[in-house]
Amino acid sequence: MSSSRAVCIVGTGYVGMACMIGLAELGWRVHGYDISAERVERLKLGIPPYREPGILEALREHLDAGKMHFFEDLDAAARDAQIVIVAVGTPSREDGSADISALQSVIHELAKVKFASWPTIVIRSTVPPGTTDALAHLARDWGDVVYAPEFLREGTAVRDFLDPDRVVVGCETPASAVGYVRLFERLQRPVLFTSRSSAELIKCCSNAFLALKISFANEVANLCDACDGMADDVLRGIGYDQRIGSQFLRPGIGFGGPCFEKDVKSMEFVARERGVGRELLSAMLRVNDAQPKKIIDLLENEIGALAEAKIGVWGLAFKAGTDDIRNSLALIIVEELSRRGASTVVFDPAVHVAPLPRDSRLVTSALEAAKADALLVLTEWPEFARIDPNLYAATLNLGVVIDGRNILDPDRVASAGLNYRGVGRGVWAPVDRPRVASVV
Ligand code: UDX
Repeated sequence: MSSSRAVCIVGTGYVGMACMIGLAELGWRVHGYDISAERVERLKLGIPPYREPGILEALREHLDAGKMHFFEDLDAAARDAQIVIVAVGTPSREDGSADISALQSVIHELAKVKFASWPTIVIRSTVPPGTTDALAHLARDWGDVVYAPEFLREGTAVRDFLDPDRVVVGCETPASAVGYVRLFERLQRPVLFTSRSSAELIKCCSNAFLALKISFANEVANLCDACDGMADDVLRGIGYDQRIGSQFLRPGIGFGGPCFEKDVKSMEFVARERGVGRELLSAMLRVNDAQPKKIIDLLENEIGALAEAKIGVWGLAFKAGTDDIRNSLALIIVEELSRRGASTVVFDPAVHVAPLPRDSRLVTSALEAAKADALLVLTEWPEFARIDPNLYAATLNLGVVIDGRNILDPDRVASAGLNYRGVGRGVWAPVDRPRVASVV
């Protein structure tokens, strides 16, 4: 396979890097290009642009083996490639629509490349339906454009790349996409050829459905609190139904991160623009916006008043396994606490710099953050659950722990003499309440 032509990847963010490493693992040679020369410089030295388990080792291994090269010049990176994968950002605008200008400029730049043969440009960025057709029109004189959505999660992106449930390709004719599909032959996964618009819809509707499951789980949890139910048991019982499934039914502070909210807003924008129903989309965004407020209200109820209070916060990343704080609801909660007059002491195992409000500071250990009046858990880092509650019971002045991710063991926390509240776990009374339903 080493004699085969390199695959070019434009954009070295989470998606682009996962494609590069994943394809190199599958035996292909890859050329990476990024508009940021500084990022390319660092990548050449083997320094990854973000944190993900295993990425540093993989990057260095493939660089050393000569399977991976980075370029400051797009023409040099792309001219010999038949497949060019484009994975650049499509951020949300104020009105919820997706900003696809970075994609458009990549197509304009690719138009200047002296390709050795007719290329297939594969768009992997998440885009609203109709975008790839418009890009294909721009490129009609020099290449084919297809849409191949990614379903990668931050923190496990390379693993997800190599273990996809399906390979979706939106194209005008399957012939234009066979070169791309061949890259994945070894994985032996189902390949679905659709129109470009259908493939675009598969991506944003998949994300919307996952986000819907989370918003549903959060509403169930709130209902549990109101009806003396136990969210852990209720959601577990629901998830056992194979038609529903147990994944993405974890209640918490709401979904954050760069994808879900952006994608749902972009779908809502498209539905509004085309005059079709968007009630569910709007409702799940409202549920998600309300959830952080619920957590703050819970805290306020337990400690009396937020003004002048000092709150310890565990977790700032939008989820465990990443240092990404883009659209992190934890950050939004910290900002809201500050607006309400509380100061915060924040610890996250991966986040070392963050735009925190004035009366908030980042510290370097969980126990240091727990020297406060109350403790809030906002990211589902498993290491938080491993800390002995007796170690922080002594330093929490008001003895209150609000577990916004349901990751702590309520019995352990309560038996250290602390007042524990989770999401949909009711008021914790360890003596007469079984922790989770047992399955025999
Ligand atoms: C998501 C999609 O999962 C992925 O397929 C797509 O390609 C990109 O967007 P990502 O944003 O990396 O991936 O993270 P994900 O693991 O999906 O979590 C998103 C948010 O939902 C996080 O804030 C997470 O904490 C939250 N979440 C997830 C829950 O609150 N409950 C759950 O059950 C699952």
